[in-house]
Amino acid sequence: MEQALRDFFLFLSKNQTANTAAKKWGLRFGASRFVAGVTIQDAIDAVRELNGKGILATLDHLGEFVFTEAEANESADYCMLTLKEIQKAGVKSNLSLKMTQLGLDISKDLCVANMRRILDTAKACNNFVRIDMEDYAHNEVTLDILKQLIAEGYDNVGTVLQAYLYKTEQDIDDLNPHHLNLRLVKGAYKEPKEVAFPEKADVDRNYIKIIEKHLKYGNYAAIASHDEAIIKHVKQFVKTHNIPKNQFEFQMLYGIRTQLQQQLANEGYTMRVYVPYGNDWYGYFMRRLAERPANVGFVMKSMVKK
Ligand code: FDA
Repeated sequence: MEQALRDFFLFLSKNQTANTAAKKWGLRFGASRFVAGVTIQDAIDAVRELNGKGILATLDHLGEFVFTEAEANESADYCMLTLKEIQKAGVKSNLSLKMTQLGLDISKDLCVANMRRILDTAKACNNFVRIDMEDYAHNEVTLDILKQLIAEGYDNVGTVLQAYLYKTEQDIDDLNPHHLNLRLVKGAYKEPKEVAFPEKADVDRNYIKIIEKHLKYGNYAAIASHDEAIIKHVKQFVKTHNIPKNQFEFQMLYGIRTQLQQQLANEGYTMRVYVPYGNDWYGYFMRRLAERPANVGFVMKSMVKK
């Protein structure tokens, strides 16, 4: 039953008609629990509040289903605006974005050109940009783009690797010479067993494996998980291997396990929260429901309240 609900929400997340309609609705169905707001001001306010609690942020201007060059360029403009507003407001946040948002499905060159514009702006603002990892179909090309940008001399960019993919352990090895700041996650998309571990226990095991490997190589890791067992394991591992606190950070999503976020920050760990904003909230919200169908309860309540 739970798996069926997960699949259902992932299916809904890809519904373009609902995505388009939702842009006009404003945040609905309890989405404001996971999305900071629709305007950049909403987003900056949310970051300022987190910063006040000793928590850093990474801002994501939400964008799905980009089909035209104009839409891709507009998305890139929003990313640049976000970087400038972060600097102007003096808040502590970097930027996360997706390759499809910048036109990857239209052309790789368009996406790379947009990335260059964004990374130049980030450099001018003394900031860092994280490329989120999307589904398997975009995995290799995302890594290719990252390597191309690094070869061009950009050093303010990193990406995400997903523990559910068989290939990820090899990717950790392949990327090691670049000493990248990588965000490590379990993986949020529905992938076939040909490319990804179907069993959660195997994903969790591989997650620990890639975290340990990346840290032992001496590289910076952003451990992005709400799983307390994983977090506990990482705390113990860094202690045993004398890995300094400035070689890793914990990351969680806006609105999820907020007490645990605060606890880690209070314990002196670097804690960063992923703060999504914008009117294109629907797909992101559906993916969060897919991760935890139990969240549907509060969605129902918020629908009744309206
Ligand atoms: P798991 O799914 O095992 O959850 C552990 C516990 O956390 C649950 O029991 C529950 O208590 C809580 N929890 C998890 N999800 C919840 C939710 N939606 N609502 C309420 N509680 C929840 N994925 C990807 O493919 N590409 C990417 O670029 C990113 N980027 C990213 C950034 C950040 C900062 C985070 C935290 C996560 C991502 N992810 C991602 C998503 C990631 O792959 C994964 O789907 C989620 O983090 C859920 O996995 P957990 O590690 O939290 O463990």
